[in-house]
Amino acid sequence: MTIKTLDDLFLHTLKDVYFAENHITKALPKMIRKAGDDKLRKLFEDHLEETKGQIERLEKVFKSLDEKPAGEECPAIEGITEEAEELMGEIKDAETLDAAMIAAAQAVEHYEITRYGTLVTWAKQLGHDEAAKLLGETLDQEYSADKKLSKLAESSLNKKAA
Ligand SMILES: [Fe+2]
Ligand SMILES: [Fe+2]
Repeated sequence: MTIKTLDDLFLHTLKDVYFAENHITKALPKMIRKAGDDKLRKLFEDHLEETKGQIERLEKVFKSLDEKPAGEECPAIEGITEEAEELMGEIKDAETLDAAMIAAAQAVEHYEITRYGTLVTWAKQLGHDEAAKLLGETLDQEYSADKKLSKLAESSLNKKAA
């Protein structure tokens, strides 16, 4: 698509994040299978469900703009998950693997936080109030997922791996 206006850029970024969320629903099941710690597995399982809801929420955002939901390839999220999978393949120790997966998951959350943060700002600037509200709900979920991952990393996992 040609990007001329902020509206075009907003729609492009929406498609980018729609692609990213769909990509994440494919990456998380692998991490659920590999998680050694019960709390970490539960966190991944919960966030997978949350992510499915975020995809539905994005579909509502597209609808609020009279646009059809569509993804546009996002090399950034592909790079983050590709690197994580390579790393995961090299680690044999279960606790070290958990630490690596927490780090990878946080890279994903931070990516999402930057994208949704931008989208909320642009939606407000463009007067897309419904979209701004919906995107803000997802942004809060991404912040909360990131915080839970930090707590888990700081509590026991990284110490055990050391
Ligand atoms: Fe997400
Ligand atoms: Fe997320």
